[in-house]
Amino acid sequence: MPIDFAAKKALFHLPEGVVYLDGNSLGPMVKAAPARVDHAVQAEWGEMLIRGWNKAGWMAQPAALGNRVGKLIGAAPGTVVLGDTLSIKVYQALASALEMNPKRRVILSDTGNFPSDLYMAEGLCRTLGGQYRLKTVAPEEAMAAIDDTVAVVMLTEVDYRTGRRHDMREITRRSHEMGAITVWDLAHSAGALPVDLAGAGADFAVGCTYKYLNSGPGGPAFIYVAPRHAEVARPALSGWLGHEAPFAFDLSYRPGQGIERMRVGTPPVLQMAALEAAMDVWDGVDLAEVHAQSLRLQDQFIKGVESRAPMLQLATPRSHLMRGSQVSFRHPEGYAIMQALIHEGVIGDFRAPDILRFGFTPLYIDEDDVARAVSVLARIMDYGTWDKPEFKARAAVT
Ligand SMILES: Cc1ncc(COP(=O)(O)O)c(C=O)c1O
Repeated sequence: MPIDFAAKKALFHLPEGVVYLDGNSLGPMVKAAPARVDHAVQAEWGEMLIRGWNKAGWMAQPAALGNRVGKLIGAAPGTVVLGDTLSIKVYQALASALEMNPKRRVILSDTGNFPSDLYMAEGLCRTLGGQYRLKTVAPEEAMAAIDDTVAVVMLTEVDYRTGRRHDMREITRRSHEMGAITVWDLAHSAGALPVDLAGAGADFAVGCTYKYLNSGPGGPAFIYVAPRHAEVARPALSGWLGHEAPFAFDLSYRPGQGIERMRVGTPPVLQMAALEAAMDVWDGVDLAEVHAQSLRLQDQFIKGVESRAPMLQLATPRSHLMRGSQVSFRHPEGYAIMQALIHEGVIGDFRAPDILRFGFTPLYIDEDDVARAVSVLARIMDYGTWDKPEFKARAAVT
């Protein structure tokens, strides 16, 4: 059955008068979240206290939610687990992948990758005594740079700045052909477009749930390990909840079964409650249909902006095959323009040095929202209302 987008939209809380084009950064709240979190606080934490770990199933949540997220990214049951933040999961996946390819010393990534991924790789290289090297190339050159020196290809499928999408299937195929292991960051993919980790033969994948999957600020990250590696991958962050028998309190570490070993410490139970509420909205949603609708909205936006605000320069590829669910435009005064837009109730965000980012999330954004965003942006550009000191003062979070 086709998705009833209007019915889905009614399940989200969107503040009055706001067009929210920033679900690629922080997804809005589903209406059911406050009651679910309140239940977790009052009835579970409040009444059950420590008994909640067993009685309310808190300990099983990371794997149970992993299976629900897994369905959206082409991962078989038992191959995804939730917890920690995405930066931590990047580190975990990369450390395991490097260890599985011991003769090689190069981590290949691209200059469009999210800085935290690159910083984590740099930090890991230093910890490993400087024998490893992080090599970054332009996104367009990533495929050609995969050679037989590369241990791990670590890429974010959809570029957080430009929205440019890598070809996961082809890059994974080429990596394997050259003897490299892949770590895919799905921060801008999970809930945005169809991902087929199993079909692509991906080795490791990581991602967050607070963007397209609406778990709220600080929501847990996820990690995927291909079943063929699950019993081989050694967790570098060998915390007690990844131990084979956490409550045996052994003095030395034995990795847990399969994906369970990628857990580290106590899971964020209250955040997981918010994610559970969001997953009730996401369960069964066909990502191919979501992405197709997102592309229609993106095209409407691009066409409108290019005709009514031609001083903005499109930074996102025109090809549908190379797009995620965001559209970016460049302008030297991008920060001030975005602040003026937000002031008028159209919320996107800004990424240095000059990118205005807009996320198109069809579960709660429709054609009328896009039309309004285009009109407001055109007006701001026509009248130069962005050119005010208050729009130029940079806040800590952009
Ligand atoms: C592609 C990508 N990787 C990693 C991160 C870092 O995630 P976290 O702050 O949850 O560790 C982000 C955050 O936006 C991201 O977009």
